[in-house]
Amino acid sequence: MSRIRESSLDKVPTIILDAVRRGIGKLVRHKNIVYRFDRGAYAASTPVVRPPGFAVKRCERNTDIPSSFWPASDRTEAPVEKKLIDHGFANGGVFWIAYIGEHIAGFQWSIRGRFLKKWSVNLDPNDLVIYNCVTFNAFRGRGIHPAAIRHIIENEATDDINVYCDVAEWNVVSKRNFEKSGFRRLE
Ligand SMILES: CC(C)(COP(=O)(O)OP(=O)(O)OC[C@H]1O[C@@H](n2cnc3c(N)ncnc32)[C@H](O)[C@@H]1OP(=O)(O)O)[C@@H](O)C(=O)NCCC(=O)NCCS
Repeated sequence: MSRIRESSLDKVPTIILDAVRRGIGKLVRHKNIVYRFDRGAYAASTPVVRPPGFAVKRCERNTDIPSSFWPASDRTEAPVEKKLIDHGFANGGVFWIAYIGEHIAGFQWSIRGRFLKKWSVNLDPNDLVIYNCVTFNAFRGRGIHPAAIRHIIENEATDDINVYCDVAEWNVVSKRNFEKSGFRRLE
């Protein structure tokens, strides 16, 4: 089923605009915006709602990844290469698989500051960076991305650490979702 048929018609202009931005984004200079999680701002804002059937599995190593992940990924436009996951684990990353019911709907990565020798800002060893967030096409537009960001924060971030992400400037959807999840742009 195509992306457009699965979404309501009023979302078609946004989807087309999003696709155009992605195309243009690849052509223009790639500028990343750094965001930091702001607990006060999130507490004062509308909480992120988990979509029905939403669940997340935390994976620290290859053997944590369910065998059903690979066929689910292979059915998407951009299947995940196993070597990229191996690389992520080898470098200290934690892989979070998002589910809707029994369906695998996407994934995100997080990593502690101690594994990142050089990043956009100075990180303390326990600080957390959330990166490489993907919702598979068939599941987009249901709020899985912000729900998974919130899940990672609630399960991985104690109050004494900072949580960061960086997002390509053109990626309006991603920037909005991090803001909705309590992140604020660092100037
Ligand atoms: C960015 C991304 C993770 C958002 O995931 P998501 O779970 O669909 O996020 P949301 O459900 O909050 O949807 C956000 C917006 O996507 C748009 N959208 C809705 N249906 C869509 C579809 N079928 N296809 C594309 N975009 C759609 C809508 O504008 C929606 O906004 P809304 O809240 O007004 O409905 C996802 O689009 C994705 O995987 N993109 C490719 C990878 C990427 O850019 N990752 C982010 C960088 S780390």
